Amino acid sequence: MTGELIYRDEFTEGRVAYGIKEELLAADTKPFILGLVAFGGSGSVNWQRLSTRISYRIYPDDKEGRILDVIVVPDQRDKGIARRLVRIAEKRMKGHGVVRVFGLAQPDIWGFWQKLGYKVSSDNEILKEL
Ligand SMILES: CC(C)(COP(=O)(O)OP(=O)(O)OC[C@H]1O[C@@H](n2cnc3c(N)ncnc32)[C@H](O)[C@@H]1OP(=O)(O)O)[C@@H](O)C(=O)NCCC(=O)NCCS
Repeated sequence: MTGELIYRDEFTEGRVAYGIKEELLAADTKPFILGLVAFGGSGSVNWQRLSTRISYRIYPDDKEGRILDVIVVPDQRDKGIARRLVRIAEKRMKGHGVVRVFGLAQPDIWGFWQKLGYKVSSDNEILKEL
């Protein structure tokens, strides 16, 4: 099962393309899903150049998800792309039975996570109940 591709999709919204890939992996004996949503710019997703993306881990046994990173390249910021990436990731996680999403965020982007409905704590942990 290690590294098994379990989901792959590419779709466009307007002229903007997004790609989703999920692999089934195992940490010790616990299975987890590693997911990646790529922003492809206009028309198509270039999986080799994933500069704008979100990645997440899903622990189906615990019904928990963890956002690992969200990155939007500077010249694409403030267009709602990160919001869209988070929404897609949340939808995927929910589809796998996730009820709580965690992550880590430095104080300079707490405002971003709060706008997306996340609670932020002083140890930089973000949390949202889906
Ligand atoms: C944080 C980051 C992902 C935001 O990407 P983005 O595509 O510009 O964000 P969006 O346009 O989707 O913003 C959604 C909302 O959050 C707000 N927002 C974005 N960045 C923010 C910040 N740093 N602080 C407060 N609010 C912020 C936006 O104004 C917008 O609000 P609105 O709906 O009221 O207009 C991007 O700035 C980035 O890649 N930063 C560097 C990497 C990083 O720190 N990643 C996160 C930790 S892994």
